[in-house]
Amino acid sequence: MKIGFFDSGVGGISVLHQARKYLPMEEFFYYADEDHVPYGKRTREEICGYTYDALKFLFGLGADAAVVACNTATAAAIEYVRASFDKPILGMEPAVKPAVQHAAGKRVLVTATPFTIREERLHHLVRLVDKEHLVTLKALPELVGFAERAEFDSPAVREYLLTEFSDLDLEDYSELVLGCTHFSYFRKVLGEILGPEVELIDGSEGTARHLADIVRDLPSAGGGSVQYYISGRPVTDEKTLKFYETLDKQME
Ligand code: DGL
Repeated sequence: MKIGFFDSGVGGISVLHQARKYLPMEEFFYYADEDHVPYGKRTREEICGYTYDALKFLFGLGADAAVVACNTATAAAIEYVRASFDKPILGMEPAVKPAVQHAAGKRVLVTATPFTIREERLHHLVRLVDKEHLVTLKALPELVGFAERAEFDSPAVREYLLTEFSDLDLEDYSELVLGCTHFSYFRKVLGEILGPEVELIDGSEGTARHLADIVRDLPSAGGGSVQYYISGRPVTDEKTLKFYETLDKQME
C-alpha cells in the first residue's frame, strides 16, 4: 500500500519515522511544502489551499491514504480536505489529553504555532479535557524556522526558548506538549532547559498507531521505501536527502 505524508516542511519526518516502525514494508511519499513554510503565520484560506494541493498531488501519485503530519494544517483544513477526497485522511492534534492525565496536579504547557494556538479547535479540546485549568498555551513561532535551517541546539535556540519561557514559573509544570511536528527535534534542548521532571509529549506515536490500525487491512506494497517531494518536485539532491536522513535518525 502507498501512504502519503504531508507537512509544511520537515516537521512531519518525525511522524513518518514513527509510522515506519509500525509499517516497515509500505511505500511512503513525503511532501514538504518548502515553498510556503511556515504555515503558522499564514491565513486559514492559504493553508486550506496548500493542503488541498499537497493531498491532490499525493493521491495523484497513487496514495491509498494520507497523513496531514502538521498540527497547523489539521487545525485549518482537515474537514475541508476530508470533504474533498474520497480516501482516508489522518490529522494531528496537540496531545493535550494525555498530558493533562499525566500532570498529577501540576501544570501543562502546550506549545504550537501561532495559528494552532489561536484556533477554536485547540480551545475546544482544552475545554473538554482541562477541567482543573492546568493548561497554559504558548506559541513558539520561531522554532519552525530554526528546524528548517537545521539549527537544533545553537545559542540562538537556547536564548529564544529562555526568553519565551521567562514569563512562566517553570517549577509549576510537569508536562510540555509539542503541538507542532517541527518541535519534536528540540527534545534534547527543551529537556535540558526544563529539567528531567518535565515530560515532553508529542502526538506522533498516537498518529502512527492510528494509521497502522486504519491501513492494516489494505494489501502491502512490499519493500518499504520513502520518496520525498518539495512542493511537488521530487527531491534528488544528496544534501537535502542527507538532511532528511539526519532528522529521521534524530527521532531514534
Ligand atoms: N509542522 C507544522 C505543525 O505541526 C507547522 C509548521 C509551520 O508553521 O509551517 O504545526
